[in-house]
Amino acid sequence: MPVSENRRLVLVLFPLQGHINPMLQLATILNSRGFSITIAHPEFNSPDPSNYPNFTFLPIPDGLSKSSFAAQDFHSTMIAIHRNCQEPLRRFILQTLEQNNPQGQVACIVYDAVMHFAQKVASQLNLPSINVRTSAAASMLAFAAFPRADEQGYITFADSLTQDESHKLQSLELRDLLITMGENPSDTTLELRAATTSATRNSCATIVNTIQFLEEETLPKIREYFHAPIFAIGPFHKLAPSSSSSLLEEDTGCISWLDKQASRSVLYVSFGSVASMNEEQLLETAMGLAMSERPFLWVVRPSSVGCTEWVELLPKGFQEIIGQRGCIVKWAPQKEVLAHGAVGGFWTHCGWNSTLESICEGVPMLCWPVFGDQVLDAKYISHLWKIGLQLEAKLERGKIARAIRQLMVEEEGEEIRRKAQEFKVRAEQSLDIGGSTNTSLNELVELILSFQS
Ligand code: UDX
Repeated sequence: MPVSENRRLVLVLFPLQGHINPMLQLATILNSRGFSITIAHPEFNSPDPSNYPNFTFLPIPDGLSKSSFAAQDFHSTMIAIHRNCQEPLRRFILQTLEQNNPQGQVACIVYDAVMHFAQKVASQLNLPSINVRTSAAASMLAFAAFPRADEQGYITFADSLTQDESHKLQSLELRDLLITMGENPSDTTLELRAATTSATRNSCATIVNTIQFLEEETLPKIREYFHAPIFAIGPFHKLAPSSSSSLLEEDTGCISWLDKQASRSVLYVSFGSVASMNEEQLLETAMGLAMSERPFLWVVRPSSVGCTEWVELLPKGFQEIIGQRGCIVKWAPQKEVLAHGAVGGFWTHCGWNSTLESICEGVPMLCWPVFGDQVLDAKYISHLWKIGLQLEAKLERGKIARAIRQLMVEEEGEEIRRKAQEFKVRAEQSLDIGGSTNTSLNELVELILSFQS
């Protein structure tokens, strides 16, 4: 029996789709290495336990209603979660510790970085904690680099970087990086970033859903600042067998529609689980898709366009275009879609999961970042890795159509398409024995086994 079998890990989830997916994938990876798994999660947006029969689920009362979790009120909702969930989490883990569970004593708390209070709970219970970043590693530095009040006044890291004009973060200048995270963050935002950074520094290690080659120069800078080991063991979804963790029902009919389309001909359009658009943006998107003359599969989440329920504002003539070469769904099995041979481009909001999923299938991206780390990811994709093109924030049909054709058809986009394929191969190589992800994962397992339970 592997030593890991009598070790239980408690994973603490943040209840948004873009965080639930990678955390459950990570749980599956660690379970496949023999660890028993408990998933502690706020009651809001609970994952479906029946998809994970090997795991124990621990719902934490959060005092939240669905309507209070609006994207624009993201930070105050997070604060409510922090305020309401810390004590129940401590009590639940304490109970688990006292149960003397035959399936393993708790060896460690593994928490989503934004659930930073879990680090405090771990420390109160004398348990080691590991922090998980579900976004790019660079976002750790972006959080830390923000000037913030701490016990010494202002953090010097940010100062030293801004004074050194030559200091570059993997060819993204700090100035750009700061802008990506908002030029005038509110006090609430600063507090959240400070608490997240401080919890990261107090944890035994950090796991990042990234691949070494994607952030080759950023990772050493992060290691300099956060002294505990950093394990780049992404892409999680390629290491974890694909149980669905979708909160919305996946419309699998779009796969049959894709089956009928020519190889690499379809543009997949999706803006993740949080971003929304207004009526004008919907119209420009639709007309841009029409003018591009490419087949498209478009995900429009219910209630994600202005005050409407779904796509009732689309112009009547657009129905005809859909009949000829389009498919609109409320939620797609995205990983399957991106892996489908008919898909040749992805118009994305650049959420980190979408970014990694696209890279792993060699699909070039059209970037339209909406908020937060998406702006940083878009910079990576279009400026640094050069596996995509960036659209301007203001959507205009003519520019959209031109960008789609450049990305998918025209000679100008040839190098981008070639590079996207190259990245797919490099991502696969990282998973091979001796590859960066494989090696890092083995080291992580060794570290967890070294914790006394
Ligand atoms: C959020 C933030 O917006 C993002 O920037 C951050 O990096 C993670 O948290 P989200 O906006 O939902 O996430 O985007 P993303 O990170 O791309 O995650 C979306 C997930 O939902 C992906 O795993 C994607 O495969 C899945 N998805 C999306 C579907 O399964 N079906 C869909 O139709 C759309």
